[in-house]
Amino acid sequence: MRRGSRHLNSDDVMALKYTKKVMDHFLHPRNMGELKDADVEATDGSPACGDMMTIGLKIDPKTHKILDVKFKSYGCASNIATASVITEMVKGRTLEEAKKIKWNAAAEELDGLPPVKMHCSVLAAKTLMDAIRKYEKMHGLLEGGEEELSAENIRLELRNIINPEMGIDIVRLKMVKGISVKKGVVKIRISMGNTDRVYEDSIREEIEEHVKAMRGVKRVEVGFST
Ligand code: FES
Repeated sequence: MRRGSRHLNSDDVMALKYTKKVMDHFLHPRNMGELKDADVEATDGSPACGDMMTIGLKIDPKTHKILDVKFKSYGCASNIATASVITEMVKGRTLEEAKKIKWNAAAEELDGLPPVKMHCSVLAAKTLMDAIRKYEKMHGLLEGGEEELSAENIRLELRNIINPEMGIDIVRLKMVKGISVKKGVVKIRISMGNTDRVYEDSIREEIEEHVKAMRGVKRVEVGFST
């Protein structure tokens, strides 16, 4: 786990006031376990907390439908609940349909999550997307090959960074004021607006970890203003 974070105990879980659906999926997770004959598997970690999870997929090679999906989580209640619900949502769908299901749709399906726990649903959705992309790469299904490194694609990636104070991503909150890319060096300007400056470091770290993982990135510089 990252500095300053810790796993929740049962008192913490109750104190977070989870919805009935979250508690149901947390206590009775669907599709949890190992998919022995998985065609592809992806493991991902959350930059926000350092927790990890794995998702395995069984895919029909002709229709590209997800025949089966299972997850293993070393994350918290929110992560287990989101992984449970998002795996239910994608089972039986084609890869193209599954790619349209984002972390916020899964959180909505759970009737919401506490703002500070939204990054846990990002982890579940991102691990699923990584498994899909890995399968697409293995089978030459990526149209036009790898995505180019562009301000537009970086902005899309920044939609996975949650402002922990509001539980909304920094793009939707209009906190991203500028993105430039030159020879692999990415510069991003963030306005904290009314957000407590106490979250500045964690937002910076998350941006750096997400963007550095993008293909072609050599360096990331994040600047903040009020
Ligand atoms: Fe790490 Fe939820 S706190 S996944």
